[in-house]
Amino acid sequence: MEELRQSIERAMRQAGDKLPTQRDFAVRSKANDHDFVTDMDVRMQEELRVSLAKVLPEAAFRSEEDLSQQPARGQLYWLVDPIDGTTNFVRDLHLSCLAVALCRDGEALAGAVYCPWSGEFFWAEQGRGAFCNGQPIHVSDKVLADAVVCFGQGYGERPVTLGKLYPLLEKCYIECVNVRALGVAELMLCYVAAGRMDGYFEYAIMPWDYAAGGLILREAGGVCTTWTGDAPSLAHGGSILAGNPACHTALQPLARDSY
Ligand code: IPD
Ligand code: CA
Repeated sequence: MEELRQSIERAMRQAGDKLPTQRDFAVRSKANDHDFVTDMDVRMQEELRVSLAKVLPEAAFRSEEDLSQQPARGQLYWLVDPIDGTTNFVRDLHLSCLAVALCRDGEALAGAVYCPWSGEFFWAEQGRGAFCNGQPIHVSDKVLADAVVCFGQGYGERPVTLGKLYPLLEKCYIECVNVRALGVAELMLCYVAAGRMDGYFEYAIMPWDYAAGGLILREAGGVCTTWTGDAPSLAHGGSILAGNPACHTALQPLARDSY
């Protein structure tokens, strides 16, 4: 697996390191007026398609901007977000990443998240721990009162999303040290995995936004479920509640009631 990690890391760094210097790209709206895709999302996707095919020629390739390939039962497949945090990228906020999960039968076997602005490469394999640039990472042991909790807004109907997020947001803002919304789900999961923050929630999010980061978080000792406490599906989107065990346990009943 070390060889696999090296190949994936090389592919992601080679593609992603072009992002910080590229400010000349077209931006289009997707599902609605605040959901964007840029030329660079497509370029990252196509570069990863080519390089990951060399790593595992037998694996299918599914990516946010091209979900046409359907893996057969038992077949390995890549699940890719070519740029997570596209709005941050469009606004030059330096807080976006590439995310790649290697999956089989709806389960992530390995996950990689690379932020070209920080140079941080997060990595996990099932049962083998989680790492940032080769160093082991672990979730914090903070309780909710000492926690920083982050959340994502997603692209659903805003009044509906706000109504769902509000009870959790209110509890965290009142009871925790503070709240954050970084606009990049995969990095928020990795930052919780690394103990920089302590919890994360989002009401409606897609599998490529959490496949890699969810595994990295679990391998770092964290818990990642839906708001109703189930294992998140990689076949369809849904809610995510993630955190160190103490914060996840503290937020789970409220998340379930709010769903
Ligand atoms: C989005 C970001 C954002 C989250 C959304 C995602 P994108 O991904 O991760 O933080 O709130 O749910 O869709 O569109 O930038 O790849
Ligand atoms: Ca994306």
